[in-house]
Amino acid sequence: PGNGSASSHGKTILIGEHAVVYGAPALVLPVLDARVVATVSPVGAGADEAAGTTVGHTLESTVHTGPLDLAPAAVMPTVTAVTATLRHFGVTDRHFHVRVDSEVPTARGMGSSAAVAAAVTAAVADALGETLDAETHHDLIQECERVAHGRPSGLDARGVVAAVPVWFEGGRIEPVALGARFTFVVADTGIPGHTRQAVAAVRERHDQDPAAVDGVIDRIGELARQARGTLEAGDAQGLGVTMDAAHDLLSALDVSSADLDRLVDAARAADALGAKLTGGGRGGCVLALAADDDHADRIAAALRGAGAAATWTTTIGARA
Ligand code: PMV
Repeated sequence: PGNGSASSHGKTILIGEHAVVYGAPALVLPVLDARVVATVSPVGAGADEAAGTTVGHTLESTVHTGPLDLAPAAVMPTVTAVTATLRHFGVTDRHFHVRVDSEVPTARGMGSSAAVAAAVTAAVADALGETLDAETHHDLIQECERVAHGRPSGLDARGVVAAVPVWFEGGRIEPVALGARFTFVVADTGIPGHTRQAVAAVRERHDQDPAAVDGVIDRIGELARQARGTLEAGDAQGLGVTMDAAHDLLSALDVSSADLDRLVDAARAADALGAKLTGGGRGGCVLALAADDDHADRIAAALRGAGAAATWTTTIGARA
């Protein structure tokens, strides 16, 4: 019985949040620099069981350290990650100490629960000397996400294992081929996002004035299509324009906030090619597009100066 380890990362939504709830396409962006690493090591191997001792899984993380069977609700998805992976491989007699090191903050729309699930399931498989094919891995992550969120779209589960942006439309997913290298900065307002309330508020607006809200949703869908084209063409300027426009449309849906707007303004003042809120809104994070790595450093500094609790820079696509 060996040790196992695996990593994953956070995600944000490049374009399409809220509109995706109404069937519009969305682009999900991996945040490669916000990492989750899971390491698992066998405990109680053989000897304890022979002695009749009950051995269980244990967890070491910032959320909970101790036996997994006594874990608080917040780590139930991690319990599922371990047990579902063991069940998948038909293993019933193994127990693990699971350590999770995460740079992905919770409740910021960065997919922290899916990222932890992705890393823990793959680490347990690794410890068993097995690997998970992409669809099996996705199914296991989704099983954990159902414990965490009820009815997950699957967008987080895809984003946290992707190396490139993922196009999401009508339940289908496609990796997006990149025409250039793109550098993004993610900044955390430090305030938890309120996705559920924001989604409900958009629904209420839609009930009151369906034509107006459908119009905004269609335009966001259009921006997603445009953004995909700019990624494929390597057109950073064009992508920035779609991001700015998406922020305006999300503001029109009233899912932004003073904190999000302040960070978006700070990124634009630092000459970001584009900036927008990302995810459910009313808290959570903003996403800005930089011209290159030095520019990303300047944008990140401006965002921290404007009160961001943390920033991450994520570069995707071919190295220059
Ligand atoms: O805040 P996040 O990244 O979990 O994204 C929410 C995205 C919404 O479109 C607002 C809701 C959803 O379920 O798709």
